[in-house]
Amino acid sequence: MRIAMIGAGYVGLVSGACLADFGHDVVCIDRDPAKIAALEAGRMPIYEPGLEALVADNVRQGRLSFGTTLKEAVAEANAVFIAVGTPSRRGDGFADLSFVYDAAREIAGALSGYTVVVTKSTVPVGTGDEVERIVRECAPRADFAVVSNPEFLREGAAIGDFKRPDRIVVGTEDPRAEAVMREVYRPLYLNASPILVTGRRTAELTKYAANAFLAAKITFINEMADLCEAVGADVQAVARGIGLDGRIGTKFLHAGPGYGGSCFPKDTLALAKTAQDHGMPLRIVETVVAVNDQRKRAMARKVIRACGGSVRGKTVALLGLTFKPDTDDMREAPSLAIAAGLQDAGAKVRAYDPEGMEQARPLLPTVAFADDAYSCAAEADAIVIVTEWNAFRGLDLERLRRVMRTPVMVDLRNIYDPNAALRHGFVYQGVGRSS
Ligand code: UGA
Repeated sequence: MRIAMIGAGYVGLVSGACLADFGHDVVCIDRDPAKIAALEAGRMPIYEPGLEALVADNVRQGRLSFGTTLKEAVAEANAVFIAVGTPSRRGDGFADLSFVYDAAREIAGALSGYTVVVTKSTVPVGTGDEVERIVRECAPRADFAVVSNPEFLREGAAIGDFKRPDRIVVGTEDPRAEAVMREVYRPLYLNASPILVTGRRTAELTKYAANAFLAAKITFINEMADLCEAVGADVQAVARGIGLDGRIGTKFLHAGPGYGGSCFPKDTLALAKTAQDHGMPLRIVETVVAVNDQRKRAMARKVIRACGGSVRGKTVALLGLTFKPDTDDMREAPSLAIAAGLQDAGAKVRAYDPEGMEQARPLLPTVAFADDAYSCAAEADAIVIVTEWNAFRGLDLERLRRVMRTPVMVDLRNIYDPNAALRHGFVYQGVGRSS
């Protein structure tokens, strides 16, 4: 199969590299010449474990290449994937589809022979219909089908998720397009990943429903964590106690500072907007959005309480800034609201993140940055574990306590055993645990 991947962002680059690894010929196209030049020189625009080696290997094998113009790649392709960004539109939260529609217009001008145009970007219900209309309008004689094929990969685990998905969703009613998509994913379903072929609108909605459900699951356990603190229960034991019920499942029940990232916040908002537009408001999703927003800000108040009610003039050290480990992505990271809340209350904030500091600096211009966890904690009145990087799981607590002014630890990811922290002389506050 020959594949053109439009957009070399997170989803496009990972999908392109993995599809090349399946043996397909893939060209990744991006408008940004600097990004393409960096990729051609073997430099990744994002931090994702395993990606650099995967790209290098497939480039060496001649299956993966990069470019800034899509004409040739699209003309030769059996399938053209649209994997461009769909940011939240300012004002109403609806997904901004201008990049998707621009891509559709450009693709239309380059189609040759039967081609499957695949929307991989997360797009609201009905976008496939509009992409089809645009392509048809720009290229009335083109032989093509528009398919929805949402992606379920997670940052930090992207390659594994792409290569071993729980399922592949393909939204099309065109048998020729279905055959092409089955060929694209043959290595996966031969390997037991089910392929679900649905209507196009169903596939589009499935992606939003999945993210909204996961966001709701996290928000549920976060609220339960607050209740656990109030009544003297342990949220981790509650999560396990409910999660072992196969109908609930143990995953995505880690209480924390609220979900962030480029997907859950944007997709829950966009889904709520779609539902409102159709006169079918999703009250659970709307509440999840509101509760999660409030939670990020509430985490600063939690730190202030742990510091005895005031952080004025105190130094607070934040360990971890990215919205989750193994990424340098700062989008909607809880650390942003936490740092702002602490500074508003008069604290000096110092921070360290293993991979995210370059992205964080412009977003946190008044925060001081440290070179490692210990220098971040030096003379601090509290440390706050915001992101559960592995590097923070085995800190030398003795050394940490010695360098701090006041040994207060607020562990927003529950990565420390409260008793161990207490033994080392810390005042410890986790999430949803009464100690
Ligand atoms: C999420 C979904 O998990 C992917 O399936 C989906 O493909 C992707 O969005 C997308 O739509 O592109 P991602 O945003 O990379 O992936 O990260 P997650 O691992 O899902 O974490 C999202 C947020 O939830 C993070 O802030 C994380 O800390 C938080 N989280 C996750 C919790 O607080 N508790 C949990 O138990 C799990």
